[in-house]
Amino acid sequence: MRKKVTVVGAGNVGATLVQRIAEARLADVVMVDVAEGVPQGKALDLMESGPIMGYDWKITGSNGYDETAGSDVIVITAGLARKPGMSRDDLLAANAGIVKQVAAETGRRSPKAVMIVVTNPMDVMAHVAMKATGFPRERVFGMGGVLDSSRFRTFIAMELGVSVENTHAFVLGGHGDTMVPLPRYSTVAGIPITELMSAEQINRLVERTRNGGAEIVALLKTGSAYYAPAAATLEMVESVLQDRKKILPCSVQLNGEYGVTGTFAGVPVKLGEKGVEQVIEIKLSTGENAGFMKSVDAVRSACEKFT
Ligand code: 2OP
Repeated sequence: MRKKVTVVGAGNVGATLVQRIAEARLADVVMVDVAEGVPQGKALDLMESGPIMGYDWKITGSNGYDETAGSDVIVITAGLARKPGMSRDDLLAANAGIVKQVAAETGRRSPKAVMIVVTNPMDVMAHVAMKATGFPRERVFGMGGVLDSSRFRTFIAMELGVSVENTHAFVLGGHGDTMVPLPRYSTVAGIPITELMSAEQINRLVERTRNGGAEIVALLKTGSAYYAPAAATLEMVESVLQDRKKILPCSVQLNGEYGVTGTFAGVPVKLGEKGVEQVIEIKLSTGENAGFMKSVDAVRSACEKFT
């Protein structure tokens, strides 16, 4: 049977994700956005690419939610970007309202779906979506760690002049300034990067990873990254739809793991058709654990303030 994915938000991340899903030949997609004509226009444009790109997937654009019913996966990318004069708190409050509504509307029509939250600040928005849907933690989680790890892998490959395919990296914690790249668990062809680079090199790559989103914003000036965020989300969608059981860093509500209860944080999880099928606990050094706890505290205090 054909799989079905809903993508809420037809902006750069949402539309690029829909394109990637179609080109990866994964599922029919419904793209929802409040802007009249935009999801419909982008969906038709993508359908008209099918004969050349070789896909037959149905891509539908809508300003409502009824077409989303029966989705296997729902991805939430909808939300505002910061505008001049807006404080970060304004953005948090505004996006919490949007995510609460779209999560409830889509969750109600696809009660068995797996929901992936991309809207920033992502860890807090995943918490909002979980509350709005009443879904168990296995079926509501956030995209951040896959993107941050992909950035770290890119920088490792650039630094050492090796293929990105040989790289593996883990970035845990919240998807924000307090994220925790883990050099000890980051490897090239299985060799920890701590054996391949000096501490100075590693620190430089870790800092660049932490600032990865801001580096793109500074270059683009009018918006934030979308190719890599869409690629990272695609990897998660694919692991769920095809029951790949990939181990990926995702933001999930912790339930005692890592000594944390009730807060979302990026940790390695096994992703399959049921969503998060296992939370994997890896040993953290004292310094890594301190960084992780700082990140958890930042997410927890934002959740207490805005949800
Ligand atoms: C990023 O890290 C904006 O969260 C997005 O690029």
